[in-house]
Amino acid sequence: MSLFRILNLMILAAFAIDRALCIRFPDRIHKPDSDAPERLKTAVFALGSFWRSEAVFGCLPGVVRTTAGYAGGSKPNPEYRSLADHAESVQVEYDPRLIGFRELLDVFWSNHDPRQVYGQGPDVGNQYRSIVFCNGTEESRMAALSKEQEQTRSRSSIVTTQILQLGPFYPAEPEHQKFELKQNPFLLQLIGNLPQEELEKSTLATKLNGYVAELCPPDIQRHIDAKINDIIKKGWPILREL
Ligand SMILES: *[C@@H]1O[C@H](CO)[C@@H](O)[C@H](O)[C@H]1NC(C)=O
Repeated sequence: MSLFRILNLMILAAFAIDRALCIRFPDRIHKPDSDAPERLKTAVFALGSFWRSEAVFGCLPGVVRTTAGYAGGSKPNPEYRSLADHAESVQVEYDPRLIGFRELLDVFWSNHDPRQVYGQGPDVGNQYRSIVFCNGTEESRMAALSKEQEQTRSRSSIVTTQILQLGPFYPAEPEHQKFELKQNPFLLQLIGNLPQEELEKSTLATKLNGYVAELCPPDIQRHIDAKINDIIKKGWPILREL
């Protein structure tokens, strides 16, 4: 038996003992931290009002966090009342092992009308234009292809969506974050009336923000319904996870 093989066996034995005795070895391989920031990716989309946009992406499996903000313009530090040439946008932080840019694109196309010029429904103006922001050539390629497919579906109407390289994203003011959820004091209370800063970062709040707007995929919408009903039945504990 080679020395290498013996060493290997010893390491295996050490692991077995570790398991048996529940000794905590530092083992990075066995316990990937699913929320480790380095595993997350970020995408930015503009598809009309950012209140709604946050809710559109919030409860997709793999989406960890959404932030409403401004992107696509040249003015530094835009604000809601003076956003100049920026578009209302949503920044989506996601785990690429659970959802991909391509699936986010599908959600983007199916949740607004990219053929509308100068706005979405009652929201009129340049700030509501449709944009896919891309980080690098691979995302640009996917975005261009999906736009072509959308154009084919739209027949003679022109798809107005811009495809831009991702530039600075400016988070919007606190009152615009998780806007849909904030319309529901009961749910805010159910998750423990988080301070604003925590609310903005909370994955749970991100999901409930989509739920309140009834923009979750139907199975997830039902799952959250059931969970909340269960809590109400049991009394008045706090909702910690979904
Ligand atoms: C763009 O992608 C690169 C490589 O994946 C990443 O390091 C970088 O943080 C991304 N930029 C933004 C703004 O997300």
